[in-house]
Amino acid sequence: MTDASVSLPLAPPAGQHARVLGLGAYRPERVVTNAEICQHIDSSDEWIRQRSGIAERRFAGPDESLIDMSVTASLTAIDRAGIDVGQVDAVLVATITHPYQTPAAAPMLADRLGIPSPAAFDISAACAGYCYGIGLANDMVRSGSARHVLVVGAEKLSDFTDPADRGSAFIFGDGAGAAVVGPSQTPGIGATTWGSDGKHWDKIAQREPWTELREAMEAPGRPDGIHWPSIGMQGQAVFRWAVYSMAPVARKILADSQVSTEQLAAFVPHQANLRITDAMVKELRLPGHVAVARDITTTGNTSAASIPLAMTRMLEERPELSGGIALQLGFGAGLAYAGQVVVLP
Ligand code: COA
Repeated sequence: MTDASVSLPLAPPAGQHARVLGLGAYRPERVVTNAEICQHIDSSDEWIRQRSGIAERRFAGPDESLIDMSVTASLTAIDRAGIDVGQVDAVLVATITHPYQTPAAAPMLADRLGIPSPAAFDISAACAGYCYGIGLANDMVRSGSARHVLVVGAEKLSDFTDPADRGSAFIFGDGAGAAVVGPSQTPGIGATTWGSDGKHWDKIAQREPWTELREAMEAPGRPDGIHWPSIGMQGQAVFRWAVYSMAPVARKILADSQVSTEQLAAFVPHQANLRITDAMVKELRLPGHVAVARDITTTGNTSAASIPLAMTRMLEERPELSGGIALQLGFGAGLAYAGQVVVLP
């Protein structure tokens, strides 16, 4: 039994309110059109636009790494937050495409940025990863375990996509988005709603574990059929889950922070499919004044990077939204989801 009379001599330092102080984004230069994607799959520009809303996406260059993309996005976010790189004391990278099993991308990014000794770790929650990161960063600043947290969502999905897979080749893109979460006089990040449904883990997943690839490579005579374990998905099942299960999550996020849809300035859902976004807008009955992120059209689905990429673009195009309340919600492989309301920087 715990003896409540025994306590530590010193309590952890008390924290304060937190908010997103600055955002940054990086989009690779190379534009990949639907026509280029259709060189490898039996599809058409028209079908891809109609079913997913995607007209084009960006692919990173062969020598351009996830860390390279993250550095650019992070420096913009840090600059816009009005702090020095040295003031960042925790780095969280949400990604599923960092090509090293270990170490995590976060300490490598911190080193490239010149942050001396931050807490640094990766978050593997796929398309929900960035919102997991914002929730954690909020809790860290509020509890006092960190003062400025750099949260990055970055993906080089082109490395893990099978260009010949008709069910997924047209969906994914590359990019990085970053946010600095830091202290605030007033609450700037609402309570996080998060969860997962692991029994459906196979709906979006790397097709084979690394160990199977190793077994195949080590088999005598290296049999044909060895292939790179890219990400596969059961599109329809994911689509239904997102449309029917995420609207109640969005309502809970709003209820927990006592924010009405009327009070929202923006809705920035994970950019999975334009039809999913449109169905959620309808289901939530969002008023006409709410700006809705539709970045997928030119960016594709960039998993953990999609929300900070979309939010950064929205603020660059419509700076008057700054100071308004945005609802952000990430969902995907796991099946994992997370979201919160944030005051736009
Ligand atoms: N090009 C042309 N036709 C295609 C195609 C392609 N790339 N892929 C499938 N089709 C065909 C199918 O064969 C089917 O034909 P049929 O009616 O003759 O049988 C038809 O198009 C419909 O296929 P379906 O799989 O039902 O398409 P869909 O409307 O569900 O759209 C996705 C497919 C992938 C765009 C959609 O399911 C989706 O976006 N899902 C969620 C994806 C997602 O969010 N993933 C990332 C995790 S967040």
